[in-house]
Amino acid sequence: MAEVKLTGLSKHYGDFAAASNVSFDVESGSFLSLLGPSGCGKTTTLRMIIGFEQPTAGDIFIDGERINDIKPWLRDLGVVFQNYALFPYMTVAENVAFGLKQRGVEPAEIKRRASKFLELVGLPGKEDRFPRQLSGGQQQRVALARALVIEPRVLLLDEPLSNLDAKLRAEMRFELKRIQNETGVTSVFVTHDQEEALTLSDRIVVMNHGEVVTVGKPKEIWERPTSAFVADFLGVENIFAPDGFEPGAVVIGGKRFAAEHDGQGNRLVGLRSTDIEIGGDADAGLAGRVQQTSYRGSINTYVVDVPGIARPLYISTATDLPIGSNIVLKPRDGAVLILDPDMEIAAA
Ligand SMILES: Nc1ncnc2c1ncn2[C@@H]1O[C@H](COP(=O)(O)OP(=O)(O)OP(=O)(O)O)[C@@H](O)[C@H]1O
Ligand SMILES: [Mg+2]
Repeated sequence: MAEVKLTGLSKHYGDFAAASNVSFDVESGSFLSLLGPSGCGKTTTLRMIIGFEQPTAGDIFIDGERINDIKPWLRDLGVVFQNYALFPYMTVAENVAFGLKQRGVEPAEIKRRASKFLELVGLPGKEDRFPRQLSGGQQQRVALARALVIEPRVLLLDEPLSNLDAKLRAEMRFELKRIQNETGVTSVFVTHDQEEALTLSDRIVVMNHGEVVTVGKPKEIWERPTSAFVADFLGVENIFAPDGFEPGAVVIGGKRFAAEHDGQGNRLVGLRSTDIEIGGDADAGLAGRVQQTSYRGSINTYVVDVPGIARPLYISTATDLPIGSNIVLKPRDGAVLILDPDMEIAAA
């Protein structure tokens, strides 16, 4: 187990900053996700930790030791990629044994450790198969065993579940969590899937355009996203400019709703579609008209026009709302998010 620290890490390709002043700590034994849209610099950051890319600026520390100038294979890291990258002409056992052989471990000990880690990843008895004789999920388990068998200081994973179908992906997510818990290995996990990051991580680093936008625990980031970009990326459906702010409140469509903010203007508000109540006192709420509905099973999402708000609101509710019906709606107590405007809001 080891602690990882990045300070002011940047990677420039010519004029282009693929990663810019990236700083964060990964506590020993914890699981941290780098979350962000395609091209935001997640892989670039991971590759600098691995040693495949040399930083343009900044430092990488493992347990307080600066590792910028240490060769990748001497950094003692376990790495798992999206495409498994197993050796096709080696059996499962040989794949898993590879790192131990390179390190000159005794054959009997290699066998013992390879079996132990294949058991850990849920693949006992598959030692003599070749990668092509395994499913994608099984191959990814082999890749995980191969990375863990050397008992690395840090495990680095770049979208390891992306090639799996939805069901297997969800299953492997639990497996990965279990394996990380059992080994206690410090892990840095790259993903663009918010749900994956939320369920797996102790902490999440959200990136955009090569920069760190926010760092926090999943619950903090989910419940209190601080910026429009983060809120949007985490699936907050309604983000818009309010009429204005008053002490302890925000004015939307001419009505006041309680909201905590520091009195600074130029903010946006965010409202999850599931955080809007329907019915109640017409004077205290907003009048809206249902324009569209999308059936999702037990909960449906409605697009509702609200005079005074430039964009229609998305509302998710179990209540059946026919198109054209007039409703009264209001945010649930405490549900109005106040967001820094770090993103363009598309016109309605
Ligand atoms: N060797 C390179 N030369 C020039 N530009 C590069 C190089 N490697 C990466 N980039 C650019 O840097 C940016 C960040 O790339 P990176 O691979 O880190 O993104 P990512 O967040 O991992 O995205 P994805 O989710 O699509 O994997 C991209 O715009 C990419 O095109
Ligand atoms: Mg990537």
